[in-house]
Amino acid sequence: MSNAAQERAEAALLPEDDVIGILLSQHARIRDLFTDVHRAQGEAKRAKFDELRALLAVHETAEEMILRPVAEKEAGEKEADARNEEEAEANRALAELERLDIAGPRFEAKLGELERAVGEHAGREEHEEFPPLRAGCSAEQLRSMGRRLLTAEKAAPTHPHPAAAGSPAAQWAVGPFASLLDRARDALSSPSEGLMGTGPASLGREDR
Ligand SMILES: [Fe+2]
Ligand SMILES: [Fe+2]
Repeated sequence: MSNAAQERAEAALLPEDDVIGILLSQHARIRDLFTDVHRAQGEAKRAKFDELRALLAVHETAEEMILRPVAEKEAGEKEADARNEEEAEANRALAELERLDIAGPRFEAKLGELERAVGEHAGREEHEEFPPLRAGCSAEQLRSMGRRLLTAEKAAPTHPHPAAAGSPAAQWAVGPFASLLDRARDALSSPSEGLMGTGPASLGREDR
């Protein structure tokens, strides 16, 4: 069983651009954001939910596009397919969730289900997928994958930064979840063309 504190501690031992360190830090933020959304009310609840949606869109898309092709070789096709399927299922659940009244009881119940599913999924990545990846890749390969993720995050930041409110970089996370996934995919496919942010880059492993 993983938790945010363990994930941050493990990430802190790795280079800043190590892909596994970045993903571990994002897992910790995802766990905390679920708690924040549960606890918040009104506008704050909406803002936290939007932050969670943006982070999940970038995180799961990055795993699918950057990590999974390598994991297929290092951890096996069965393992990679199972993780991809869990991510697709979480995407479907999130798209359903955003159609519900955020202040209603059904939202809370669905959010709880998604939190459990996403938390278990992250735990399986950490225990079944990351170790063979670390064993099979060079440190430079892991850092090069991490840099790709960090570059994409400049076009699709997962931290809200008020200075850039209204800028294209701040606007990328607006709209239905399905369109966030498309934009996250675009940012990860051609990160150099998508550099829109002028503010501080949002690094995945930044502490809250
Ligand atoms: Fe994932
Ligand atoms: Fe993950």
